[in-house]
Amino acid sequence: MPALEAVQELSPKELEERGERLRNDGIVIRTYDLWKTYIMGDQEIHAVSGVDIEIRRGEYVAIMGPSGSGKSTLMNLIGCLDTPTKGLYYLNGKLASDMEDDELARIRNKEIGFVFQTFNLLARASALHNVELPLIYAGVPSQERAERARTALRSVDLEPRMHHKPNELSGGQRQRVAIARALVNRPSILLADEPTGALDTATGKEIMALFERLHSDGNTIVLVTHEPDIALYAHRVIHIRDGKVELDEETPRPERK
Ligand SMILES: Nc1ncnc2c1ncn2[C@@H]1O[C@H](COP(=O)(O)OP(=O)(O)O)[C@@H](O)[C@H]1O
Ligand SMILES: [Mg+2]
Repeated sequence: MPALEAVQELSPKELEERGERLRNDGIVIRTYDLWKTYIMGDQEIHAVSGVDIEIRRGEYVAIMGPSGSGKSTLMNLIGCLDTPTKGLYYLNGKLASDMEDDELARIRNKEIGFVFQTFNLLARASALHNVELPLIYAGVPSQERAERARTALRSVDLEPRMHHKPNELSGGQRQRVAIARALVNRPSILLADEPTGALDTATGKEIMALFERLHSDGNTIVLVTHEPDIALYAHRVIHIRDGKVELDEETPRPERK
């Protein structure tokens, strides 16, 4: 995929038009020559170095690479948790690489549902309340909030456990609560970083089956993993090494789980 030449030469209007075109073409994620450089003493670490990726609405993509290859850094950029040192990032047609913190927080809440390895649930809150949280931040009224949270829990088969707290749930159930929380705002993408990393193999398979179902239901999923077995569940794998895209390929169907 050709990088965007002469990024600096595009006018604000041209940048905006490019975003509109991407959105009309159903492209939810597009990066152009994206870089993230850390300065450590007198050393520069290029954690992400010149990444061009394009992800369409409805895709199920894994970003795979060994430890230290830049996956988490790239995920933080895609998830609007961090801003690039250089390059462009369009999320759903909006130029996220240009945004200030408050605007970035807003687009993140609206467009991205996060799933983390360690679930990141509030320990003292019920499953229902955990799932309601993003809606509280979004200012949704309480009755609608409770209804939408219940619906999200139903979609991961956890409605009967909605009044349980995390310590009253198994690891797999906790991750399903976290997935319901990620879905409740109807985000443009579900972004999962090593979602099975803290689970045993059988439970990990259940979670991957759930992602497959959510994908069939029309969700766009980006899965970050260092495990080739897990990456094979996705329909396309972007291999990352030393902060660069090494290979971007469709998953062979017979191997797809
Ligand atoms: N905040 C940071 N400051 C300095 N270096 C960092 C920072 N975060 C990550 N790195 C470095 O960037 C590279 C990529 O890290 P990371 O994105 O965490 O890789 P992965 O998630 O694939 O294991 C590594 O060399 C790591 O040490
Ligand atoms: Mg990582």
